[in-house]
Amino acid sequence: METRAVYPGSFDPVTNGHLDLIQRSAALFDKVIVAILRNTDKIPLFTVEERMEMLNEAVRDLKNVSVTSFEGLLVDFAQQIGASVIVRGIRAISDYEYELQMALMNRRLSNKVETVFMLPAESYSFLSSKLVKEIARLGGSIRGFVPADVEKRLCGMYRIE
Ligand code: PNS
Repeated sequence: METRAVYPGSFDPVTNGHLDLIQRSAALFDKVIVAILRNTDKIPLFTVEERMEMLNEAVRDLKNVSVTSFEGLLVDFAQQIGASVIVRGIRAISDYEYELQMALMNRRLSNKVETVFMLPAESYSFLSSKLVKEIARLGGSIRGFVPADVEKRLCGMYRIE
């Protein structure tokens, strides 16, 4: 039977760390659905549509990866799309506490979906969307941290050459 995995997140914007995890997941599971949360508490820099465009461009060559958005509980969405796995990345021990809490709560909410933690390449272990946005806003170089298209959009936003 086909194993579908959902990789949920804010992706505001997608970084090379996210992309590394998507590639690793795509090699493990039959189908990977990258899902952007719509009803978040966070105030995003990019609209869901913009984030979707950037992600679609980034995963263009990965045939078993698709991008979508969702509202409401992740476990309900996972069930709707037939995903039995939730993929989450852990960069450092500091991520673990929050991720553990979410994974155990999701398990409590539904026993039909299993959370799988994956490690990105070490070279991305310090990378986050939040830091990338801050560096771009303050005029620093974000080359190598995000896909080229994302770099262009972020630099355009802050009028960086
Ligand atoms: O990239 P993020 O912001 O760390 O992703 C967090 C996300 C989207 C995975 C999480 O907020 C989520 O799953 N939200 C959906 C609502 C939900 O199911 N909440 C209960 C989680 S235990």
